[in-house]
Amino acid sequence: ERLWVVVPAAGRGTRMGADRPKQYLRLAGRPVLEHALHRACAHPAAAGAVVALAADDGGWGEVRPPEGVAVATVTGGAERCDSVRAALAALAGRARAEDLVAVHDAARPCLPRRDLEAVVAAAAADADGALLALPVGDTLKREAEGRVAETVPREGLWRALTPQVFRYGLLREALEGAAGAPVTDEAAAVERLGRRPRLVAGSPLNLKITHPGDLALAAAALRLLEE
Ligand code: C5P
Repeated sequence: ERLWVVVPAAGRGTRMGADRPKQYLRLAGRPVLEHALHRACAHPAAAGAVVALAADDGGWGEVRPPEGVAVATVTGGAERCDSVRAALAALAGRARAEDLVAVHDAARPCLPRRDLEAVVAAAAADADGALLALPVGDTLKREAEGRVAETVPREGLWRALTPQVFRYGLLREALEGAAGAPVTDEAAAVERLGRRPRLVAGSPLNLKITHPGDLALAAAALRLLEE
């Protein structure tokens, strides 16, 4: 089994309100993207990685490559799925249709090794692929004009994390078919083909840097992963 790693890192991260995109904020002295890339490549089957960068990227030069895995870069697109599509196109000719591709957010620097191995193993065993996810633990409310409109039953609801892992051929087909559709993760594109990716319960430490306070949480998560 061969595994390719794709890291979409072309977002602007405007919700952070920082002076640079969130993937380049410093976490334990290194760019967030460097942590995410190294952790996503820490699988023995990893054959190569592609990172999608913004056209006006100004931070990639400071990211140290992972050991033993060749990393290429491409220019990403307007939406996350456009960035992933560009990265997959760059693998054409090297990746076979049956190879596995793990897509991992640049903004998730605390991926546990055990979770990477679990989601790759699940995808290797399942034609529909697999994604890390967390069962929803809080009670959910739908809002209208600042008030609760209804309580949404949380049974069976999960939060989608990354990595999301699919066969290269399936993921390319799914993303080509989803052009213009509201697709916020790879699984959503694959689901549009009538497939049902497997949910693999992941660690809550695998958080996505979204708001300013998340950097301090990620620093604590990294320490926990190293214990
Ligand atoms: O904004 P959000 O946290 O959902 O972004 C998830 C990931 O997708 C981030 O790593 C971000 O850099 C990436 N992205 C991208 N191209 C875009 C938008 C987001 O690669 N156009």
